[in-house]
Amino acid sequence: MNSRLVLTSALCIVCLIIHSNAVSGTRTFSIDYKNNRFLKDGAPFQFVSGSIHYSRIPRFYWKDRLLKMHMTGLNAIQIYVPWNYHETVQGVYKFSGDQDLEHFLDLANQTGLLVILRPGPYICAEWEMGGLPAWLLQKPNIILRSSDPDYLQAVSNWLAVLLPKIRPWLYINGGNVISVQVENEYGSYFACDYNYMRHLRTLFRFFLGEDVVLFTTDGNTDREMICGTLEGLYATIDFGTDTNFTTAFSRQRRFEPRGPLVNSEFYTGWLDHWGDKHAQVDTQKVSKMLGDMLSTGANVNMYMFEGGTNFGYWNGADHDSRFRSVVTSYDYDAPLSEAGDPTEKLLAIRDVIKRFFPVPEGPMPPATPKFAYGFVNLQKVGNISSLLDKLSPQGPIKSQYPLTFEEIKQYYGFVLYRTKLPRTLAEATPLITPLNGVHDRAYVSVNGVYQGLLERDITLVIKVMGQAGDQLDILVENMGRVNFGTKINDHKGLLGNLILGKDVLTDWQIYPLDIDGAIANGWPHSGFKHTFPSAKNNSSAGPVFYMGTLDSPGLAWDTFLKLRGWTKGQVWINGVNLGRYWPARGPQQTLYIPGPLLSASRPNNITVLELEKAPSETRVLFMDRAQLNSTNKKS
Ligand SMILES: *[C@@H]1O[C@H](CO)[C@@H](O)[C@H](O)[C@H]1NC(C)=O
Ligand SMILES: *[C@@H]1O[C@H](CO)[C@@H](O)[C@H](O)[C@H]1NC(C)=O
Ligand SMILES: *[C@@H]1O[C@H](CO)[C@@H](O)[C@H](O)[C@H]1NC(C)=O
Ligand SMILES: *[C@@H]1O[C@H](CO)[C@@H](O)[C@H](O)[C@H]1NC(C)=O
Ligand SMILES: *[C@@H]1O[C@H](CO)[C@@H](O)[C@H](O)[C@H]1NC(C)=O
Ligand SMILES: *[C@@H]1O[C@H](CO)[C@@H](O)[C@H](O)[C@H]1NC(C)=O
Ligand SMILES: *[C@@H]1O[C@H](CO)[C@@H](O)[C@H](O)[C@H]1NC(C)=O
Repeated sequence: MNSRLVLTSALCIVCLIIHSNAVSGTRTFSIDYKNNRFLKDGAPFQFVSGSIHYSRIPRFYWKDRLLKMHMTGLNAIQIYVPWNYHETVQGVYKFSGDQDLEHFLDLANQTGLLVILRPGPYICAEWEMGGLPAWLLQKPNIILRSSDPDYLQAVSNWLAVLLPKIRPWLYINGGNVISVQVENEYGSYFACDYNYMRHLRTLFRFFLGEDVVLFTTDGNTDREMICGTLEGLYATIDFGTDTNFTTAFSRQRRFEPRGPLVNSEFYTGWLDHWGDKHAQVDTQKVSKMLGDMLSTGANVNMYMFEGGTNFGYWNGADHDSRFRSVVTSYDYDAPLSEAGDPTEKLLAIRDVIKRFFPVPEGPMPPATPKFAYGFVNLQKVGNISSLLDKLSPQGPIKSQYPLTFEEIKQYYGFVLYRTKLPRTLAEATPLITPLNGVHDRAYVSVNGVYQGLLERDITLVIKVMGQAGDQLDILVENMGRVNFGTKINDHKGLLGNLILGKDVLTDWQIYPLDIDGAIANGWPHSGFKHTFPSAKNNSSAGPVFYMGTLDSPGLAWDTFLKLRGWTKGQVWINGVNLGRYWPARGPQQTLYIPGPLLSASRPNNITVLELEKAPSETRVLFMDRAQLNSTNKKS
């Protein structure tokens, strides 16, 4: 190569850029390595940003949350794109309604917020499977987040759909996306596969161009920074209030000797798992450290600024010493609450930001109004077996041995596994999952009589009785796929054989259950027949559906649903899956219901699937405030 020629043409390109800048006011966003900062349109730029996940907020409220972030004085937001939320079914892409990413970007732009975009493909985020679609697991031994050719092919197909939609939204192209993260905390993953990261870098550059700032984010250890960073991707770091930020930023410096300091995830709060104590992070610590970081000129993104809700089945899970599923609320103890209300923490943060940046004039938009609609009585609809023609219209798949959710292509929710007792069990006989292969909870009945449950990592044996030929029903619940660590290949269902006494159970009928489809089509409220006229066996143990209506309330304000005395299950309102409840385990006690899901003028349809045991009075309570911090009874 003739280096003089290269130099000359490089200079020439610089000339052209400067020229066109001057002429047309070209927008630029870049890293100023010389002065350790970002440059936006040629001027020094420092961001104070907040994370918000559009997939955890109903579309109706996007603008409200963004406006409150703007009014706090943030100049940017940071968002994840959950792949599985947009490509739930392989090859079918959803970008409308609650999935309308471009509308969200547009609202942010209208609100004057820049965007730091994190399109994964893996995002962690305490989101089901870290945002990866569960259909990837159809190849049983796929090595996710690596250069496994099947994984790379799926990633390439997805990014070829997503990134071209992003390109016009780049700041340099007239939009508001200033920078784009590649992968997510990749250094925390065991694979440490640079070829995978190189492949991503190539794709991102191909679809987004050479000029956009691409970066990585990793945890505050050398190992993570070594495996997560790659030349050409600006290395940033993440840490919370328990970390010495001087030490953390000097670690970033070791990997990125020049350029701006960036904490991509400064933790304002933390997540909750079922059965754990409610997590909280002290406001004073958050505001002190935010101020300290901003005063050194560092760029800070607060994770989360607005957490939102894991509606439906979208929560993730951790698997360290054992499987622990993330609760439905993603309030996160963040400055904006789950329901989008400004908190004391938000006001404290705004006071800190005021010292460094102009904060918009005018009042903070108030909390959205809440309403306590009171109690609603529910009636029993029926159990899963009596409703199979509604919930599993295509009938069972027959298989000698159990199949996983992925094998039958039902990725979320519940599947019924049915077989017969191979012999008479005169005394209580152990039903065992020898390889801990129940993912994640199995509700067991013999001839319609509930026997109890098996639970991953916790209960691997229960005892059952019955006659040869009795029907054994096992309803298996997917509690959300692991989103972090080495165990993200988290297949669901019965992953291996069950053993009853000395028999391996075989000859299964496996019923995929489309509960959400049935409810979205009006069931059970349309044409409900009283198949359970209270009498007969009104035992309420085991999985049973209940329904009720909240009569035309005259208002459609936000509310919180409390299921006091209920054990564990799933709730829908007007066809929308609100998520899981589990007051018996806590800490979360109420489910957030955004007002726009309610009708002010028509009766609102409530459906509950209680999995274990309903209270004697089958009623639920609509309250005007959240309870996320239970210290009550054990499960
Ligand atoms: C973003 O908003 C600005 C005005 O604030 C507008 O000029 C610009 O066209 C918008 N960009 C897009 C892509 O809509
Ligand atoms: C953080 O570490 C630095 C250097 O090791 C030390 O000087 C400083 O006192 C520490 N800061 C805090 C708040 O502990
Ligand atoms: C389900 O309900 C039917 C009656 O509709 C009853 O015969 C059966 O025992 C029940 N099964 C379970 C698992 O509760
Ligand atoms: C009613 O349910 C109870 C408890 O589940 C069970 O023990 C009993 O056998 C059932 N009775 C009938 C008539 O099905
Ligand atoms: C409740 O369900 C009924 C029957 O499916 C339906 O006609 C009605 O529109 C539903 N109500 C609301 C508020 O969606
Ligand atoms: C069945 O329901 C009746 C009336 O609702 C109640 O009095 C009775 O205790 C219930 N029986 C069982 C076994 O739950
Ligand atoms: C949660 O409960 C604990 C123990 O009662 C208490 O110390 C803590 O302040 C509570 N947090 C909230 C947000 O209520």
